[in-house]
Amino acid sequence: MPCIKEMLAGPARSQEVTARGWVRTKRELKNLVFVEVYDGSCFNGIQCTFERGCADMATQAALASLSTGCSVAVKGKVVPSAGSGQAVEIAASGIDIIGDAPFETYPLQKKRHSLEFLRECAHLRARTNTFGAVARVRSCLAFGVHRFFQERGFHCVHTPIITANDAEGAGALFQVTALDLEALAASGKAPDYGRDFFRKRSYLTVSGQLEAETYATALSRVYTFGPAFRAEHSNTARHLAEFWMIEPEVAFADLGDLMDLAEEFLTYLFDLALRECAEDLAFFDSRMEKGLRSSLQKVLDSRFARITYTDAVAELEKNAGTFTFKPFWGCDLQSEHERFLTEQVARGPVVITDFPQEIKPFYMKQNDDGKTVRAMDVLFPRLGEIIGGSQREERLDRLERRMTESGMKAEDYSWYLDLRRYGTVPHGGFGMGFERLVQYVTGMANIRDVIPYPRVVGQADF
Ligand code: 4AD
Ligand code: MG
Repeated sequence: MPCIKEMLAGPARSQEVTARGWVRTKRELKNLVFVEVYDGSCFNGIQCTFERGCADMATQAALASLSTGCSVAVKGKVVPSAGSGQAVEIAASGIDIIGDAPFETYPLQKKRHSLEFLRECAHLRARTNTFGAVARVRSCLAFGVHRFFQERGFHCVHTPIITANDAEGAGALFQVTALDLEALAASGKAPDYGRDFFRKRSYLTVSGQLEAETYATALSRVYTFGPAFRAEHSNTARHLAEFWMIEPEVAFADLGDLMDLAEEFLTYLFDLALRECAEDLAFFDSRMEKGLRSSLQKVLDSRFARITYTDAVAELEKNAGTFTFKPFWGCDLQSEHERFLTEQVARGPVVITDFPQEIKPFYMKQNDDGKTVRAMDVLFPRLGEIIGGSQREERLDRLERRMTESGMKAEDYSWYLDLRRYGTVPHGGFGMGFERLVQYVTGMANIRDVIPYPRVVGQADF
C-alpha cells in the first residue's frame, strides 16, 4: 500500500492504486474535477483527476459533497500529469468518503490561518501545510541526532525524569508529590516530605547532565535525549516549560573538543535537513523566513567564531549606547547583547567561552584566574543561545568548595562527588534545546509552534 510520497516519487504504473488521505482542495471545471489529496507523508498532495462523463453515480455524489478536510480513498492509476506543478497525478476512477468534515464547522478552511489561532486548535494544526512540515522536519532531526552520535561511538543513556537534585541550581523546579495537598491545607499541617512517595522532596528534572556524567565516566561517550522541565516564568518566543534536550557527555575531553563536537553536530543536522527535508524547507523559505536555506548553507560553509566572555563584553561596552541593558563584566548576556554579538561582531554563529563563575552552575571547571569557568554558549543569529555546556570540575577539593559557596549540601551529592573520588577524568558536555534547533532550521518565530503541544505559563492544554 504505497503512501502518497511513494506515488509522487515513483514512475507512472499501469496497475490500480488507492490514495488514502485528506482533501486539501477541490477544483471543478465543466468536464473535470480535481481533488488534491494529502496524507502527510510529504509536503505535496497528489492531484486526483476525475472525468465527469466517466464517473458512476456514487462517485458523482461523493464529488459533489466532499469538502476540505474530508478523509477519502481514491482509486485510479498513476499517470504522467497533463498539468504543470506535478510530474504525475491519479487518473481517478472512484472515490469513497471515509469521514466527512462539514465545512460549516470544520475549523481549518482553505484560507490562511494565523499561528495564534492554530495554537488554539493544536489537535488539528498538524493538518496544515506549516505544521505538517514542522512535524516532518522535527522527526528527521530527532532521528539525525541519534544517527550523529551512534555513528561516532556514543551510547544513548536514559536519565531519570524524576530526580531529587537541581542540576542547574537555577531553582526553576516543578515539584512532584503524592501527598494530598488539599487535605493537608484543610488540617493546617505542613507537608512532611519524609512521608511522601520518595521519602524526600522530588522534582521533574531540569537536565540529565549529572546522571549522564556518571555514565560518561564508565562508557566514555554518551548522550541523552529526553524531556526537561523548567518552571521559568519567562514568557518569550524561546522558552518552554517542557522541552526536549540532547546532552552529550564525553570523558577525556576539554573545552576545545566540546566546541568542535558542537560545531560538527549542528552542521551535520543542518546538512541533513537541507538534503532530506528539501520540500519542507523550500516552503519555510518562501513563507516564514526569506533566505532560510542560504542562511543554513552559510553556517555549513564557515567556521563558528570563538570569543571569550571577557572579550565579548569589551566589544559590547564599546557600543554600550545601543543597549537598553548596559553591559558590564559579570553581567548575564541579555538577548540584545547576544544579537549584537552574532549579527554585528561575528556575523554568524559564535561560541562564547570562559564566563564568570558567579553566573554559571557549580559543576563547571574553574580557570586558574580564580574568576572564570570553562563554559561555552553557542549563539546563533535570529535565535540567541542554542547550546550551553562546559568542561566539568574534575578535582574533588575544588568541586566541594564550589558547592559550599553555592549553598549546596555535599551529602546530597555524594554519588556525584564519587566520580571525582574514584578514577576521576577530565570530561565535559553540553545541552542543546531540541526545539531551539527545530526553530532555527524551520525559521519558525515562536518556539510554541515547533512542539506539538506547548507547555508554558498558564497553558497545558491537550
Ligand atoms: O544552558 P542550559 O541550562 O544547560 C544545561 O541544562 C546543561 N546541564 C547542559 C549540559 O551541559 N549538559 O540548557 C541547555 C540548552 C540551552 O542552550 C537551550 O537551547 C535549551 O537547553 N533550553 C531551553 N529550551 C527551551 N525552553 C527552555 N526553557 C530552555 N532552557 C534551556
Ligand atoms: Mg544556558
